Amino acid sequence: MFLSENTPLVAIDIGSHSIKMAQMGGTGKKFELLNFSVMPLKEDSIVDGVIREPDEIVETLAKMIKLEKVDTRYAVASIAGEAVIIKKIRVPKMTAEELKENIASEAEQYIPFDIDDVSIDFQLLESSDSEKSENPDTMEILLVAVQRDLVDSLTDILYDAGLKPAIIDLDVFAMVNACELGVDLETGGVVAVIDLGESFSHLNIIEEGCTAYTRDIPLGGNYCTKKLMSKFNLSHKEAVKLKLGKIPAELNDDEVVEVIVQSFEKIIDEVQKAFEFFSTTSKNPVERVYITGGGALIRGMESLFSHHLNTSVEILNPMKGIKVNNRKFDQGMIDTLGPLSTVALGLAARKFDYQ
Ligand SMILES: Nc1ncnc2c1ncn2[C@@H]1O[C@H](COP(=O)(O)OP(=O)(O)OP(=O)(O)O)[C@@H](O)[C@H]1O
Ligand SMILES: [Mg+2]
Repeated sequence: MFLSENTPLVAIDIGSHSIKMAQMGGTGKKFELLNFSVMPLKEDSIVDGVIREPDEIVETLAKMIKLEKVDTRYAVASIAGEAVIIKKIRVPKMTAEELKENIASEAEQYIPFDIDDVSIDFQLLESSDSEKSENPDTMEILLVAVQRDLVDSLTDILYDAGLKPAIIDLDVFAMVNACELGVDLETGGVVAVIDLGESFSHLNIIEEGCTAYTRDIPLGGNYCTKKLMSKFNLSHKEAVKLKLGKIPAELNDDEVVEVIVQSFEKIIDEVQKAFEFFSTTSKNPVERVYITGGGALIRGMESLFSHHLNTSVEILNPMKGIKVNNRKFDQGMIDTLGPLSTVALGLAARKFDYQ
């Protein structure tokens, strides 16, 4: 079978806390949810983005595919973490074909890993007229370099679970696709999307609808869980419950909230640093922020981010941008889990292409 634009794909987001799987039908503005499920992974299956227990992940994924009766074997999945480099760079003016041939030597100086160990991709960016006149002999590209080991371990997992990897994307790019399901990113200034995951807080700053700056901040919900465990001498499971707002009578509510707030303030500090760095490269400040991912489900997170970042902050629930048949899906579950679906829905919105 040849893969085409119409090849049905199943989207798989393997996070360090849980696997999310989604399938969508239809096109463009008429996307409809066909399948969605979330299954938790055992603690430490993935640590700091590194897969430690591949068998556990394969088993969970295979179970999800069977339970949800997924009718395609072609998967679109994504990677994240510090082994991913995304950077806007300038290269001498050349055709896309020439750049394909020369990208390794052009990119080498920007990649802190051995060039032979990475897969490289790029996207041509349209520069503004003023930039063109300043640099007529160069052009701007978005360089993407990913350590091959990371791609290999992900594709191995997909194969072992009975799937065929058709597209390997990045979490930060999928977040933009998910956002676009319900938000117009091309107008209204610079937008930041922050996916508060378990090991990482994935950040993408989007300018005129295009990725302008990304970072996978190596701090997430797990950092907060660990702080709660040590402060109150709790098991992992007990600490996670506190984040869900289930605080037992023997603990002081204010003390629990303080630990949660302090943990996320550390993440916000990193976000602020990223915003400051971005402001040195762009004339336009970040005007709107969307938070999503499991951390966005913690009560009060929106106002905490809004207070510190001094911008308007909303929770991104990409389920709101697509059609969800309420006879097929429990609306309460979809509303609650919406922010967890961001990367999976962003991946599911992709079609197979040969780019
Ligand atoms: N309903 C909820 N209320 C509060 N916190 C939640 C809720 N559901 C999940 N979380 C927290 O969100 C985090 C998991 O988020 P998410 O599923 O987005 O991470 P992940 O995608 O598995 O991880 P990563 O992207 O970092 O690899 C955990 O720290 C978890 O405790
Ligand atoms: Mg995630």
